Amino acid sequence: TSAIPVITIDGPTASGKGTVAHRVADKLGFHYLDSGALYRLTALSALRRGTDLADEHALAKLAEHLQCSFQGGDVILSHENVTDAIRAEEVGNTASKIATFPSVRHALVGLQLGFRKAPGVVADGRDMGSVIFPHAALKVFLTASVAARADRRYKQLIGKGFSASMEDLLMDLQARDDRDTNRAIAPLVPAEGAHVLDTSEMTADEAVDQVLQWYAAIGK
Ligand code: CDP
Ligand code: CDP
Repeated sequence: TSAIPVITIDGPTASGKGTVAHRVADKLGFHYLDSGALYRLTALSALRRGTDLADEHALAKLAEHLQCSFQGGDVILSHENVTDAIRAEEVGNTASKIATFPSVRHALVGLQLGFRKAPGVVADGRDMGSVIFPHAALKVFLTASVAARADRRYKQLIGKGFSASMEDLLMDLQARDDRDTNRAIAPLVPAEGAHVLDTSEMTADEAVDQVLQWYAAIGK
């Protein structure tokens, strides 16, 4: 698989990783790995089963035995369509807590590597370029101001029919940034060699064009 190209798109919450990675994958005809969805699926399973969120061993077992599949844009967990359920803020916040456990991260490595299939993959998350695909052909670190990201998340949640308060969102976003940036294992930092793109003043399509330009320039 080492010849199969990988594009990694990492960054903080609501920076536009998912949107941009998905569109870049579509343009290139590549597979798409939403690594955050795997942490969210583990979190959703734990919340539903009432697993103790401090029990690293039990959480790692859940991650290891995750029965999930990705069909078109849908996320399936044990035959149930959980595409929208995993997007709830509670699930995202729980995901960021359990993602601090090394054995949970370890349990999800194989699943992530399995997405590297011909003709290529675009992977988004926090540690795609730094840990999972350190030899990626192109590494991008997307970012945007806290205000821009809170505004994007607010519109997204309302659009999906969730209720949301801007004040709570800003607090959650900062707490999540802190946890993701300061954790001991696989912290959120631009990977070595990553192109950093601040999208505060850009549309998602402008960000997509920039990533495609960088990719086209490789080897030239
Ligand atoms: O995956 P991540 O949490 O980084 O972000 P996302 O789920 O892709 O959400 C970003 C939201 O902001 C989407 O609704 C996008 O349409 C919008 N957006 C963007 O992604 N990029 C911009 N430059 C501007 C807006
Ligand atoms: O969409 P958003 O950026 O809010 O979150 P996500 O990408 O769906 O990921 C949810 C949580 O999982 C993040 O807050 C991270 O703590 C964790 N995560 C991670 O640790 N490593 C990854 N590669 C992806 C997500």
